Amino acid sequence: MSAASLTAAARRQAQLAFLASGTEFRLGRAEDCPLPPEQLAAVRGDEPWVRACLDDGLTARVYRVQLDGHDWALKVARRPCRVQNPDGQTSFLNELQRRRDLARLMRTPEQAERLAGIVPTQYASLQQGIVLSPWVEGQRIERWDERQLVELFDLLIALLLAGLFEWDLAPGNTLDDGRIRLFDFGYLYPFDPLRQYNSDGLASPGFHAAERFETRQFFACLLRMERESGMLALADFELEKRIALDAYERLHRELVSRSASQGVLDWLSELMRRWRNALAGDLGGLYLQEAWRSHWLDIRDDLSGQSCTPLTLQRLAWLNEMATTHHPDLLASGALANERRPDRDALLDDLRRAEAQAIRWQLADVQNAQKV
Ligand SMILES: Nc1ncnc2c1ncn2[C@@H]1O[C@H](COP(=O)(O)OP(=O)(O)OP(=O)(O)O)[C@@H](O)[C@H]1O
Ligand SMILES: [Mg+2]
Repeated sequence: MSAASLTAAARRQAQLAFLASGTEFRLGRAEDCPLPPEQLAAVRGDEPWVRACLDDGLTARVYRVQLDGHDWALKVARRPCRVQNPDGQTSFLNELQRRRDLARLMRTPEQAERLAGIVPTQYASLQQGIVLSPWVEGQRIERWDERQLVELFDLLIALLLAGLFEWDLAPGNTLDDGRIRLFDFGYLYPFDPLRQYNSDGLASPGFHAAERFETRQFFACLLRMERESGMLALADFELEKRIALDAYERLHRELVSRSASQGVLDWLSELMRRWRNALAGDLGGLYLQEAWRSHWLDIRDDLSGQSCTPLTLQRLAWLNEMATTHHPDLLASGALANERRPDRDALLDDLRRAEAQAIRWQLADVQNAQKV
């Protein structure tokens, strides 16, 4: 069976077995490291070559190091990882496997050009628990502009067509140094773009590139924008949907030319039809629908990984407000089409329960609990 046709469960199981076996997985050569890898792996943070330490990642601690006149990102795996589920436990190995796939892809000049936003790997070792890559002198994105969105979607489409599906487009995983860069591949999984919607195969048609971006990041930006002005948030949403639609049209054409299955083509066409209609008419309805889905999905993700933050609570507050004061609009827009119990009281009940859990699983509390 090819890697692309592995189901999510089989992939997870193979990775857990690989980890249990204690086998080494290395990328690059020790000679290409600016310091011997053992020394990099033993980093404490007070060495003269360490310029900064980023401690907020869930899988790893990242050091900015300066060696041989270059700035590097030295990612050191957390053991255990702070995401308490199997995908969290396998994310470091997965990152190394995907970096290997990407390095192979980027050997062809055409792919290297299309994937230029992917930050390359200098050296990595599973047993030493490190990844060394060039430092990106970039910014997180507070408000996405046209260039940034076009670059992001171009890159995501290139990954999809290469058989790689990125699940975690969180704000900490996209940097802009004049070009959009991706560098965290812990949740980038192989799949078959001609026959599958995503790396869950055909099981979860709700997950796709634009949805991942909206869920993990963009609706958190729009949530901030809404506080300033609902009209501004809607205008940003329109820009993003136009660019996503354009990208999906290119993806669809390419999949047709590669004889993708009718099921995958129809699924994409239906998504694009909904967006096209909304862009020509009721954009507010689509906003409600996508926002409702995005906030809920991201909250569920945080709850399942027991990795909640203040943003989890802000998302819950938005859902609460909508369910309380805009229930008829939610119903009319189709935002509640996938809810088992779409009536107002049931929604508020679910939200109350989620909120209690989100309060219990705030990350700082989890850390404190582990220290005790
Ligand atoms: N090559 C790089 N250049 C610049 N900054 C980087 C680089 N790699 C990582 N970082 C910084 O370190 C942070 C954490 O890195 P990364 O996302 O790879 O770790 P993580 O622990 O897997 O994160 P999480 O699991 O929370 O998504 C990033 O948000 C980014 O700010
Ligand atoms: Mg990250």
